Amino acid sequence: PVLVVDFGAQYAQLIARRVREANVYSEIVPHTISAADVAAKNPAGIVLSGGPSSVYEEGSPDLDPGILQLGVPVLGICYGFQVMARQLGGTVSQTGLREYGATNMTVQGDGGSLLGEQPSTQTVWMSHGDAVTEAPEGFDVLASSEATPVAAFASVHRGLYGVQWHPEVKHSEFGQRVLENFLHDAAGIPADWNSGNVIVEQVARIREQVGSARVICGLSGGVDSAVAAAIVHEAIGDQLVCIFVDHGLLRQDERRQVEEDYVASTGVRLVTVDAVDQFMDALAGVTDPETKRKIIGREFIRSFENAAEALVREAAGDGEKVKFLVQGTLYPDVVESGGGTGTANIKSHHNVGGLPEDLQFDLVEPLRTLFKDEVRAIGRELGLPEVIVGRQPFPGPGLGIRIIGEVTHDRLELLRKADAIARAELTAAGLDDTIWQCPVVLLADVRSVGVQGDGRTYGHPIVLRPVSSEDAMTADWTRLPYDVLAKISNRITNEVDGVNRVVLDVTSKPPGTIEWE
Ligand code: XMP
Repeated sequence: PVLVVDFGAQYAQLIARRVREANVYSEIVPHTISAADVAAKNPAGIVLSGGPSSVYEEGSPDLDPGILQLGVPVLGICYGFQVMARQLGGTVSQTGLREYGATNMTVQGDGGSLLGEQPSTQTVWMSHGDAVTEAPEGFDVLASSEATPVAAFASVHRGLYGVQWHPEVKHSEFGQRVLENFLHDAAGIPADWNSGNVIVEQVARIREQVGSARVICGLSGGVDSAVAAAIVHEAIGDQLVCIFVDHGLLRQDERRQVEEDYVASTGVRLVTVDAVDQFMDALAGVTDPETKRKIIGREFIRSFENAAEALVREAAGDGEKVKFLVQGTLYPDVVESGGGTGTANIKSHHNVGGLPEDLQFDLVEPLRTLFKDEVRAIGRELGLPEVIVGRQPFPGPGLGIRIIGEVTHDRLELLRKADAIARAELTAAGLDDTIWQCPVVLLADVRSVGVQGDGRTYGHPIVLRPVSSEDAMTADWTRLPYDVLAKISNRITNEVDGVNRVVLDVTSKPPGTIEWE
């Protein structure tokens, strides 16, 4: 693999993704990793991430100097570049000049293998206070900017490279080229990692892990559990049984898509638990968001456990134990919870509503090394329907937390219609790749006066919440074209009884969360 050394903030994940976009497998490791542990992973290359600190700060994150002596090609980025410069004997100074955001960079000489054959001035994304003022001995200066005499350097024969800017950020014009030049040219790593090999590798691993035991999987209707189950099914066929809880809080057509399209394309054995009345009874009269979430989580566990226990009993008849549970855990979850390896018993998982600890299964997590876009690519490779693979993130508690106020059958029906219209129009306008997700929210406790046809109405507003995001941790509201908004608004007010107003949420995250509850 290529190891991405994490110096903090969220840069490392983005770098790891860009490396994979260059068809090279990457893994994130903490900056505290020792040179011996790095060597044990036998990396083909190392990328040092940026970070929020200054190399001058007391206790600022450092790197085992042995790592730069391993003979493994290294690319330092921003803070990582400065750490390299310091360790190798260059000079990092507090020049008092800061660069934040889009900055002009000038290539020096022929730019070497990182910057060769690129425009001699380009826009790059900078974010730093300190600057490298003198390159370490034996290093060539490849670029400079107004505040940074040494904005990039290289020692080809030692395989050590660094850039002050952030090539992983899209605002850096040739950023991806710089990364690819490092990976493919400087480090000589072939571009041969793709979703096809991930499937082959995971299938072998799953077979080895589960043997002849039975496996169950909770399908939420979302992308992650659908792809996780499909890959496990590819590995062990009908040793896998999927459980799908219909809690009545799903979007239009979702149950059919799982029961028909998904099953048809994968051949998985599916048990649907029809729990609509159970959930509606439990939610009656409840308006507090956290209480709703807790109730939905609790009822979900109850339904799932009952179904799982029935399967365990049934399997006991033929002597094959149900020993494993599939989870659609993704790499960001793993990284953000501090790493961890191997199988663990379940604690909680937001995808399936936080299953309890006393559900004693070992976990099968075939997506633990993958990012969302890679999961989608694998789903497509496995032939899953686009309605499932291309699906926007959808919260476990479903439409229950998109009705502000009490959840009732009628309100769900209304919201489902409005949501289906918004989704259809966004897809028709080709905006699915522009938006991360677009929650459609019903303000059930708010009414406003309207005029429709000849009469006065007193109806509810629907909120559109289109957001753009890389990872849902932060988000910006998406500037949708006015004509698309107009179309959605027209259709919703005309076609959905009880709605006489459509409003647009123009709040970023922070301060607003993506969902309203
Ligand atoms: P917020 O509203 O916290 O949402 O900005 C961030 C992302 O998480 C999704 N979300 C959930 N997903 N179970 C889930 O599986 C949940 O309880 C849940 N709550 C929020 C939300 O849709 C967004 O993508």
